Amino acid sequence: MKGIILAGGSGTRLAPSTDSMNKHLLAVFDKPMIYYPLSVLMLGGIKEFMIISTPADRPRFETLLGDGASLGISISYKDQSNPNGIPEALTISKEFIADDSVALILGDNIFYGQGFTTLLRNAIKNHRHATVFGYRVKDPQRFGVVEFDAYQKAISLEEKPKEPKSDFAVTGLYIYDNQAVELTKKLKPSNRGELEITDLNKEYLKRGKLDVELLGRGFAWMDAGTHESLFEASEFVKITQQRQGFKLACLEEIAYYLGYISREALYEKGKSMEKNDYGQYLLEIADRKHSEQYWDRIEKNPMLGLVK
Ligand code: DAU
Repeated sequence: MKGIILAGGSGTRLAPSTDSMNKHLLAVFDKPMIYYPLSVLMLGGIKEFMIISTPADRPRFETLLGDGASLGISISYKDQSNPNGIPEALTISKEFIADDSVALILGDNIFYGQGFTTLLRNAIKNHRHATVFGYRVKDPQRFGVVEFDAYQKAISLEEKPKEPKSDFAVTGLYIYDNQAVELTKKLKPSNRGELEITDLNKEYLKRGKLDVELLGRGFAWMDAGTHESLFEASEFVKITQQRQGFKLACLEEIAYYLGYISREALYEKGKSMEKNDYGQYLLEIADRKHSEQYWDRIEKNPMLGLVK
């Protein structure tokens, strides 16, 4: 399965912070926003990525993440010249997807919760045609909304409905079979002039090919697309990290525990940033002082598939 991270858009909701900087490079507490969605797909077991951004911002992503080799993954890049809508990511990356299936994640989406890795790995392993993830929210009007029948079967999808038929938002993580590229080509722009990801999901729903996984109350899902939500996301990351002493979305840590990079490489990376807390954290892991027992348990847990 290939992984796509969509990190373009105009970012107008975060102006002026985004006047000279792509939204997905802004910090969510102690690391760039794009680390969070990339960490999700890495934990899902994906190793080949494409990051789609604007022509002006692409070099900055390349500077940040390069070809992915330092994380033991591969990353390529493509431009989206105009924010024509989320599904356009699939047609832009059609050569990259080739005849594979694909996980698409929005660059401003943050997921966190116990068991998420297992849930995602299972969703990837067992996926049939299209899988989306539903999450209960207080303000469903802001999102794609999924309605269920009495048997928890999805029966309708609407993008930003004025009168939502349920409280379940569709999060910005989508798993598709290879058909998604062809189906996207048939989509028409909505009233706001964009191709809508909800319209693509509706095509799958119509064909009885859409699975909806619900993320329960033990999960945190946030999109960091407004000043308010960006600040809240930073606070969430700060508080969670401070309490447990584990970092969220630390790409080098994930790469190390997945067996993609060596302890030496982790140590070197930590050394290059040793004056800050992020570098210190990497050094602690490389030194194995860091919660050795906890990680040993995780590593040895075959459910998580993290055995090195
Ligand atoms: O966050 C989940 C929601 O994301 C879903 O519930 C909605 O169904 C879906 O339409 C989307 O809604 P948003 O209003 O949050 O979409 P937004 O336009 O803010 O774009 C989401 C991300 O995708 C953002 O990081 C910018 C990027 N983007 C968006 C568009 C439309 C692009 O890179 N290119 C684009 O053309």
